[in-house]
Amino acid sequence: MLDAIVPIGEGVYFTGAFDPKIRTFDIIMKTANGSSYNSYLVRGSAGVAIMDTVKREFSDDFFARVERLCSYDEIRYIVLHHLEPDHSGALEELMRRAPDAKLIISHRAVLMLKGIIKTDVAFEVANTGKEISLGDKTIRFLSTPFLHWPDTMSSYLVEEGILFSGDVFGSHYYDERLFDDQVGDFAYAFKYYYDHIMRPFKQHVLAALKLYRACDAIALIAPLHGPVLRSNINYYLDSYETWSSQKRFRKHEFGQKMLSVFYISSYENTQKMAQSIMVGADSIEGVRASMYDLASLEQENMIDLMEESDVVVVGSPTVNGDAVKPAWDLLSSMAFLESAGKIGATFGSYGWTGEAPQMLHERMRGLKFRLPLAPLRIKLIPTAQELSECVAWGKELGEIAMGKVVEMTLE
Ligand code: FEO
Repeated sequence: MLDAIVPIGEGVYFTGAFDPKIRTFDIIMKTANGSSYNSYLVRGSAGVAIMDTVKREFSDDFFARVERLCSYDEIRYIVLHHLEPDHSGALEELMRRAPDAKLIISHRAVLMLKGIIKTDVAFEVANTGKEISLGDKTIRFLSTPFLHWPDTMSSYLVEEGILFSGDVFGSHYYDERLFDDQVGDFAYAFKYYYDHIMRPFKQHVLAALKLYRACDAIALIAPLHGPVLRSNINYYLDSYETWSSQKRFRKHEFGQKMLSVFYISSYENTQKMAQSIMVGADSIEGVRASMYDLASLEQENMIDLMEESDVVVVGSPTVNGDAVKPAWDLLSSMAFLESAGKIGATFGSYGWTGEAPQMLHERMRGLKFRLPLAPLRIKLIPTAQELSECVAWGKELGEIAMGKVVEMTLE
């Protein structure tokens, strides 16, 4: 049994589906309050547009809502802002039921489309500025890639001031009261969603905000998950702007480079290396070096520190031919961050084979760090001479952080 038809504007309706039971989304996100797969229907004087669909398992709810609002032969456009299956799950069936509707996707979605629906279909590509008309209603497209996949775009319903923002401004938060001023307190879900989905793409968030702010007047934001936002639009825009702009490390304001040495040590040997590397790096003017013991660092702090660091140095002993788990955990937290442009380096003391620094080096290469120096390894207890080498290695990293050009290692 469906609830009442919910208009979100003049001739604009919610056609999505609620998923109160989901507790994990995309494997990594906890969804304590469930979620929703938001879809919308826009009715103009010359036809109807469907804005996104839902996850396949919720197709019945979606089609039931659509059928209460229009007949399939009235649908002129199907707009997919984002092809992830939670929004494209009912696309193929909708196209079968509305064969005359034009599918509109972003240019980056073209290669994904066939992978999603496994068949050739006709479509039109939308870039920033393209418009489609439904008679008395106009939908203008905005290219907002990487939020959350490369294909993501947004659109703006000009006459109503409604921004269809894709995953941007979404929350995994189920509440059938739907509007932000009527649902429960979803602030934690809004921030959590930003941190997990948008944070790795801050520059793209800022670019999207520029496009959004250039829209005449946004009266309502209709995202693909969670509450529809209408109570204080600037609060949501400003929150994204702040989270995407802020720097905690104030030394950046004075032009200093932040070099962080993360280490884990069982017999203080790798720790001694870390200390010497830090001292060497910190002796370079313009570099502020610090060291952090991974054995006691919370993941949230790891993420913040990694994000702020210009240079990330990771040290681990070798145990059973591998780096130890806290070092891998540190690097796995890069899933939440942009790594492009960061410098990386690895080191560690070892007793027998000493593979850990090289393994971490390879992982950092895979994460797109710039790795100018070969891994630094020392067998067992470092001598005074070896610690001097660590200081020199740290100095070299500091100089590279400040712009010294070196030939990149191919190891
Ligand atoms: Fe809600 Fe990235 O899909």
